[in-house]
Amino acid sequence: MQTKIKKLRELNEKAELMGGEERIKKQHQAGKLTARERVDKLLDPATFVEIDKYVVHREKSLEKQLYLGDGVITGYGQINNRTVFVFAQDFTVLGGSLAEMYAQKIVKIMDMAAKVGAPVIGLNDSGGARIQEGVKSLGGYADIFLRNSLMSGVIPQISAIMGPCAGGAVYSPALTDFTFMVKDTSYMFITGPDVVKTVTLEDVTKEQLGGASTHNSKSGVAHFASETDIDCLIKIRELMSFLPQNNMEEPPFVPTIDDPNRMEPSLENIIPVNPNTPYDIKEVIKLAADDGNFFEVMEEYAKNIVIGFIRLNGKSIGVVANQPAVLAGALDINASVKGARFVRFCDCFNIPILTFVDVPGFLPGVAQEYDGIIRHGAKLLYAYCEATVPKVTLITRKAYGGAYDVMSSKHIRADINFAYPTAEIAVMGPDGAVNILYRKEIAEAADPVAAKDRLTSEYRENFANPYRAAELGYIDEILEPALTRPKLIRSFELLANKRLSNPPKKHSNLPL
Ligand code: HXC
Repeated sequence: MQTKIKKLRELNEKAELMGGEERIKKQHQAGKLTARERVDKLLDPATFVEIDKYVVHREKSLEKQLYLGDGVITGYGQINNRTVFVFAQDFTVLGGSLAEMYAQKIVKIMDMAAKVGAPVIGLNDSGGARIQEGVKSLGGYADIFLRNSLMSGVIPQISAIMGPCAGGAVYSPALTDFTFMVKDTSYMFITGPDVVKTVTLEDVTKEQLGGASTHNSKSGVAHFASETDIDCLIKIRELMSFLPQNNMEEPPFVPTIDDPNRMEPSLENIIPVNPNTPYDIKEVIKLAADDGNFFEVMEEYAKNIVIGFIRLNGKSIGVVANQPAVLAGALDINASVKGARFVRFCDCFNIPILTFVDVPGFLPGVAQEYDGIIRHGAKLLYAYCEATVPKVTLITRKAYGGAYDVMSSKHIRADINFAYPTAEIAVMGPDGAVNILYRKEIAEAADPVAAKDRLTSEYRENFANPYRAAELGYIDEILEPALTRPKLIRSFELLANKRLSNPPKKHSNLPL
């Protein structure tokens, strides 16, 4: 027995040495942790259970390069005492390249995760398809893509890019719910700078083409950017604290000592007197949230809409908010897509949605029209219409035109709609409306400027307020801002047992 145990221990040590000390050193020199170190830091201490530690490839041309585990570490463990499945690509073994057995290991834990209803977290650091295994590698990717797609909306799937991720390999992260990147050490692209140079003659670095800043601020491919591997792993743990294990569960309850009846008189001064003066909607969100904690998603992309998670009296809530401090909060293509995907994520995973509205409308412009603002704006509308989770809406200031309808209005099944007394709910803003309704009267007035001012303030008085909408029941309550937190908490408590379903269908045909 003892000899057999000794042999097992030796095998384990061999597997744990990954691609060898030299390559581990290289990994550290590149500013990266190894796959094993990453798994350790991601999970609660001593909870990791490794699966398939002794798997090796069966590729003849690589007979001399056999590594136990075949370049990917797979298994399960816990984050804050809840089970998650993990795979971590090991760049020290054949550049973390993905091949037949490697893919089978990932597929195995994905299938287990779906069976037991637990999230999957993938830590990516790989040279892509293992060239020597050819089409077996491509098939391996496709096996993973299929599971990413089928498990979408069933279990949360998280990707962290912690090294290279190129070619078709990028499509697994793209199919998952959230993508994290590490600044300076990670990149994602379909083709690298050399191919780009050959095809389009553009000179671009890896970082410019597909680094963390690019994908967090320009392309919207990634949702989070971290300074280091450790920061990234800590952030993943934090995200998980807002999410349920699967689509049949509620998100976890995190107790707070923050008073649910806390009044916030400072909210009375946040909305500027001049309706055209910007303010930061994140301040409103933080003042309402438990402990002022707002976990923002896609912070650097389409900043005219803000999305993320808060807790209200311990319960996880998805927040979508127009940001008047950027583009006056107007909805453009990127903001619509950003908001739509987040609303759909929350709806998949039973996370109630809180919407803050201050929107002058959809962004006008030739570029927006040519690029399909109609089609993309429809995504946000569709996502809200389709969502059956509890939905509470608070109009802080402007809710104009089609954007009023889109931003979780009563008409598209929001459950409780609040407005501050500063709300302006109308077909369009006073300036535009007066120009259309009174063009002739203004032109013929002795003092056109004074006439326009008078008509604008009359319009504001008559239309740009929340009372018309409240008379019609489109707004349930006009709220004193100081009461925001208690009222929101009470509303979501009321809706905790909401049951609503959509008509049976194979699946919807959302405007992609
Ligand atoms: C086999 C690979 C490999 C690969 C790297 N290695 N990529 N082995 N298949 N795809 C090996 C290297 O030979 C090397 O082995 C070790 O990993 C480390 O690689 P280095 O090049 O020394 O590291 P570095 O200088 O850091 O460069 C990393 C890299 C580079 C930028 C990722 O290795 C590279 O360009 N690799 C190829 C990337 C690529 O084009 N992949 C295919 C993408 S298309 P030794 O033994 O020397 O340590 C794709 C299609 C997916 O993946 C399709 C899905 C549908």
